[in-house]
Amino acid sequence: MPKILVTGGCGYIGTHTLVDLIENGYDVISVDNNSRSNPAVLKGVERITGKTVKNYKVDLCNFDDTAAIFQENDDIKGIIHFAAYKAVGESVVKPLMYFENNLLSLINLLKCVQEFAIPWFVFSSSCTVYGNPDNSLVTEETPPKPAESPYGYTKQMGEQILGEFQKASGTQIILLRYFNPVGAHPSIEIGELPIGKPQNLVPAITQTAIGKLPGMQVFGNDYPTRDGSCVRDFIHVSDISHAHTLAIKYLEEGKSSKGVEVFNLGTGNGVTVLEAIKAFEKVSGKSLNYEIAPRRPGDVIAIYANNDKAKSRLGWNPDKTLEEMLDTAWKWELKLKDDEQFFSSVKSELN
Ligand code: WQD
Repeated sequence: MPKILVTGGCGYIGTHTLVDLIENGYDVISVDNNSRSNPAVLKGVERITGKTVKNYKVDLCNFDDTAAIFQENDDIKGIIHFAAYKAVGESVVKPLMYFENNLLSLINLLKCVQEFAIPWFVFSSSCTVYGNPDNSLVTEETPPKPAESPYGYTKQMGEQILGEFQKASGTQIILLRYFNPVGAHPSIEIGELPIGKPQNLVPAITQTAIGKLPGMQVFGNDYPTRDGSCVRDFIHVSDISHAHTLAIKYLEEGKSSKGVEVFNLGTGNGVTVLEAIKAFEKVSGKSLNYEIAPRRPGDVIAIYANNDKAKSRLGWNPDKTLEEMLDTAWKWELKLKDDEQFFSSVKSELN
C-alpha cells in the first residue's frame, strides 16, 4: 500500500491518524520536531497497531532537513499535513510566531511536493477560516469572513497558498476543515497531551476534574446564544482521523473531480460551552469547579458544520456522541494520572 508522510505525527490528531491509516493498510512515516509533542506517544500507536512508526525529528521550517526526508523516502505517495501551532488564544498574543511557523513550514513542504512530484496532499484546515459566520451552520460554500485570530488567518492563507500552488503543480489537494476535535482513542492508549496550562476547553475540563487545575474559567456567558456561552461543534478525534484515511482513499481511487476539494469535518450539532460542562459532569459524576470570566479575544461566537459533503463524497459517518467524546477524554485523563510514570516521562521530555 502507498506510503503516507504524516507531518505532526506525534500530535493529538496526528497519532490518531497514524493508527487509522495503519489499520487501513497504509505504510506511514511521521515528521515532527516535537516542539509541542513527544515521540514517546508513538509507543501508544505501536501498542494499538503493533507497528513501529519512524518519526523524523525535523523542523519543517528548515527546507534542507525537510527535503532530506523525501530523498530518503522516494516512495511517498501522499502527505497529510498537521504540523502547525493551533491555539487560538496564544496566536492573538504571538501573531508573528504563528505566521512564520505555520506558513513557512507549509511552503517548504510544497516545495518538496513540487520537487519530488508527490501526487496527493491533505491539509489540516479549520472552521476558523469561516471567521464569525452570519449563519452559525456553515457549508463549504459559506464565504469566509475575516478570521478572528492570527491562527485562523494562517489557515485561510494556507488554503489560498494551496489553491494557487495547485493551479501551477497539478497536485491533487484536499482541505479538511475541522471543527472541535475532542476525546481519545477508545483503547485509551493515545489522547490529547496539552503542554502547560491547557488552552482548549475539554482538557481544561478534565484537568480541573482530576485536580491538576484548581478550577477553570468559562470565557463569557453574555454571548447572543441560548445560554450565553459560545457554541461549538465537538467531534471525536477518531472520527476526524478516519476522515483523513477516507480522503487519501478518495485521491487514490481517482475520485477527486477538482484540483482542490474542501470538506467540513463536524457532527452538525452545536453545543454550548456550558452544555459541554454539564454533559461532562453527567458522564464523570464529578462536579466541575468553574467560574464565569470575561470573553476571550479571538473567540468565534457560534459555529457548527453542515457535513453533508464529507458524508456523501468521502463516505464519512461520524458516529460518536458528545457523551462518548467526553467519556474517552475523561478515561484518558484518569490513565495519565494513574500511569504517572508514563505521564512524567512524556512531560519531562516535553519541557
Ligand atoms: C472552545 C470554547 C472558549 C477553554 C479549536 C481549536 C482550533 C480549531 C477550532 C482545529 C471557546 C471556551 C476554552 C477554557 C473556555 N480547531 N473555553 N474555557 O477556540 O474553538 O478552537 O477549534 O483547527 O485549532 O483550538 O477551541 O477549546 O480553545 O475553545 O470557556 O478554559 O471553549 O472560549 O468558546 P476553539 P477551544
